[in-house]
Amino acid sequence: MLDVEGIKERLRATEIDPFWAFADKTRKDTAYITHGYHRYPAKFIPQIVSHLVERYTKEGDLVADPFGGSGTTLVESKVMGRASVGVDINPVAVLIAKVKTQPLEPTELAVVFDSLKVKIGTYNGDSKIVMPKHERIDYWFKEKEKRELGIISQEISRIENQEYRDFFFCGFSNILKNCSIWLQKSNKPTRDFKKIPSSPIPTFYRQIRTMMNKNEQFYTLMRQKNYLDINCEIECRDARSLPTGDKSVSLIVTSPPYVTSYEYADLHQLSALWFQFTDNLNNFRKNFIGTTSGREWKNLFLNSVIAETTRKQLSLIDKKTSKEVAAYFCEMNQVFSEMKRVLKRRGKACIVIGNTNLKGVEILNAEVFVEQLQNLGFTISDIIKREIPSKNLPSTRDIKTGKFARLTDKNKTEVYPTEYILVMEEL
Ligand SMILES: C[S@@+](CC[C@H](N)C(=O)[O-])C[C@H]1O[C@@H](n2cnc3c(N)ncnc32)[C@H](O)[C@@H]1O
Repeated sequence: MLDVEGIKERLRATEIDPFWAFADKTRKDTAYITHGYHRYPAKFIPQIVSHLVERYTKEGDLVADPFGGSGTTLVESKVMGRASVGVDINPVAVLIAKVKTQPLEPTELAVVFDSLKVKIGTYNGDSKIVMPKHERIDYWFKEKEKRELGIISQEISRIENQEYRDFFFCGFSNILKNCSIWLQKSNKPTRDFKKIPSSPIPTFYRQIRTMMNKNEQFYTLMRQKNYLDINCEIECRDARSLPTGDKSVSLIVTSPPYVTSYEYADLHQLSALWFQFTDNLNNFRKNFIGTTSGREWKNLFLNSVIAETTRKQLSLIDKKTSKEVAAYFCEMNQVFSEMKRVLKRRGKACIVIGNTNLKGVEILNAEVFVEQLQNLGFTISDIIKREIPSKNLPSTRDIKTGKFARLTDKNKTEVYPTEYILVMEEL
């Protein structure tokens, strides 16, 4: 077991392993089969999961993801013939993950789509449409698009078979942003009054045709491997209460939310409001780890000296941020404790995480997580450091100090952001 300085040194000394960058992978590779069904912030690339599943599991093992998101771990586990269980607090993520992990018989799916198109085509200007009533729907959508979207969703909701219904709702969810006045490419909910929204019906048909092609690839692959019946359980619930027994899981592969980074609740509000998963965004946000709202600040148990030091440093600069970070580390420690409960002896927890900076203070997420996990009884099995080779992301750093530099600085060099894969073993 390493002490605090030992943990810091271990992570500092870890060199970037080029194997894990998957720099040769194109968007097509990372969006293969069902991975490209729906955009999702901070989803990780499938190749990371498949290598970890291959390295750390054997036939019959169960894989889990407590922050399942759009289901990358679960899809890849199925491709490798492993049963899996995943949860996410976000019902939109759960819808996406369920659809992505469920291959549908392609010919039947085409029949359902044809019949849906016929029904959508029968609407005229006088047809009555039942739509979700919420001021935020009127805030985001113009009348014409709102009506067309209403026609589509009304007809999808009449499909009897839930798996097919969910497939079309997943596609519907992915077009909502384009059909609204949400500022394109923005991760903040901002309106763009100059935007010309995409026309819903043709956009929906295009989206479904793409998904149908990908479904067919997935279905064929699963049938060839005889994996169509591999079990995949997905529930909308908190990562601190997983729907699986003690010591039942062989491998966890997960990427947790970051503190005060993405507000997943806000980012998915178009789908969450349309599907009436919530009618109050403030309440909706509260259960997401890493958010800023509705937290209990007292008696937080961080289980980490590094986290306590960060909390103190931040409290000298900004008390609110210091409390938010403390709440985040406290809640992550609770998730790790639940992971320990479900993992088998010698089972591995692979956590994909990078370090961040808030108000000028380095937030050493990776170091804190290793310390917390060690304190809970895990040992380090492996620490991998990888570059995230995104064309949009290289940041400019000072060659000597490694700190962020301005584009005009002489000593600047461009580096890709890095993250760790912490492979921790349950003793
Ligand atoms: C980085 S994302 C995971 C992305 C995922 N690896 C993928 O490939 O799509 C983190 C996820 O944690 C979820 N989350 C936040 N708080 C949670 C909680 N208390 N319980 C379960 N999931 C939570 C968010 O909704 C988000 O989907």
